[in-house]
Amino acid sequence: MRRVVAIAIAAATLCVCAGPSRGASSQDFAAVERGRYLTTAADCGSCHTTPGSAHPFAGGRPIETPFGVLAAPNITPDRETGIGAWTDDEFDAAVRRGRSRDGARLYPAMPFPYYTRMSRQDVADIRAYLDTVEPVHNAVTVNRLPFPFDLRSSMIAWDAMYFTPGEFRPDASKSKEWNRGAYLVQGPGHCGACHTPKTLLGSDESSKALHGSVLQGWTAPEITGKQGSLRDWSVEDIAAYLKTGHNKNAAAAGLMGEVVGRSTSHLTDGDVEDIAIYLKDLSGSAPGKTASPDKDVMNAGGAIYQDLCSACHRGDGKGVPQMFPNLTEVATVSAAKPDTVLRVIIQGAASVSTEKEPTGPAMPAFGWQLDDAQIAAVATYVRSHFGKQDSAVSAADVGRARSALAARVN
Ligand code: HEC
Ligand code: HEC
Ligand code: HEC
Repeated sequence: MRRVVAIAIAAATLCVCAGPSRGASSQDFAAVERGRYLTTAADCGSCHTTPGSAHPFAGGRPIETPFGVLAAPNITPDRETGIGAWTDDEFDAAVRRGRSRDGARLYPAMPFPYYTRMSRQDVADIRAYLDTVEPVHNAVTVNRLPFPFDLRSSMIAWDAMYFTPGEFRPDASKSKEWNRGAYLVQGPGHCGACHTPKTLLGSDESSKALHGSVLQGWTAPEITGKQGSLRDWSVEDIAAYLKTGHNKNAAAAGLMGEVVGRSTSHLTDGDVEDIAIYLKDLSGSAPGKTASPDKDVMNAGGAIYQDLCSACHRGDGKGVPQMFPNLTEVATVSAAKPDTVLRVIIQGAASVSTEKEPTGPAMPAFGWQLDDAQIAAVATYVRSHFGKQDSAVSAADVGRARSALAARVN
């Protein structure tokens, strides 16, 4: 996620203040441990911590939204600038209903439309855990949206149209494992925040849950088990990807690398397996039809591929298990939009390292070496020869991808 933009922490306002936290007594211990696990599953720290900061949950990280950039607030137990003085009801209303302490609407950049699937007890446990972290005095100015979205009241209409509050209800016709996976995906894991296509106003297109979406220049691929690459992945393949960041087909990079590193790699083996069981059972989108690319472009792309790419991904695109992704299997290559393929070729990519697999292999950048037409040719070749996409990528697509990437200082 975006890390540019002036950050709202003025050095002088940042202090770790010793103060009365509502520290845990021994009978709270189990609640705190459940809360810690859920806080990780929900990845609250990813937005509410400034990257590189030594103060988890102290806020300040800029979050991109369809309306503009917001900074996530301080949710440490500091009484003045954090949530230390909030009641449990106020905290629950923020996390599950998107209401701030003063009753104002929160923007859905805070994933409350997903967290509403958690129970009141779940959120009370998260609170119990957050009460044990270091209180940090850090006043964050949250609201930096352009008119009319700077008016929180514009969210009243949004909530009315798009927000369906309510706890997860298990489906009695499905297994216990399926239901646990569904709860984790739809609730704390908020996987749809990235993997579900959005309307112009940033709400989920709910009929297309987990059918894939593009955000910040990354394609979050379709992750239903009936289309896209998960169709060919086993439950074990999906679980390994979520647990370690790698499997024999793919490696998690970018935003998903962060999700794996901070969240899913810390879940129990049972939970990642339940997520996989649920995803495998979801039906997907209908495949689209497109025109075939030009033969000369395919020949040029094939030559560049042999030259620059086949050393790692092999001539047949199948790569090397656990090292170089199998381009015939990964979703990014078959995705309808070429965004991630272009980004990876232009900028390169380093896969996440997790405790189980400490060194992730890297993909070099080719943006400096190849011009737009050459990148378009090799991207077209890879997508249509190894993937399921028959549409050509144009030099203009590459030009647009380059400027979009240059505009983003990571
Ligand atoms: C994807 C980013 C993201 C994640 C993940 C996230 N938040 Fe937030 N959160 C935000 C943003 C942005 C706001 C501010 C929204 C606004 O002001 O309209 C916010 C607001 C809040 C608030 C209201 C604070 C205030 O001062 O009004 C609370 C409480 C909160 N989040 C708790 C949590 C908890 C607990 C979790 C994990 C269960 C979590 N958040 C996960 C981005 C996130
Ligand atoms: C912050 C955005 C974000 C969130 C939240 C997120 N993902 Fe992803 N996910 C991505 C992106 C981007 C990719 C593509 C990664 C790449 O290109 O290496 C991806 C890739 C994946 C893949 C690999 C698909 C393939 O075919 O290569 C799986 C499986 C997956 N995500 C599952 C999940 C699950 C399950 C959750 C919720 C627990 C989740 N993701 C939450 C952004 C996200
Ligand atoms: C030095 C080895 C190496 C070379 C050369 C190389 N790659 Fe890669 N490639 C990798 C690695 C490693 C990854 C996984 C990176 C990650 O997970 O972040 C990767 C990832 C990718 C992906 C994304 C796969 C996914 O999981 O979504 C694509 C597409 C890709 N490479 C295409 C190419 C193309 C096209 C070329 C030639 C222009 C090329 N690669 C050259 C090592 C290489």
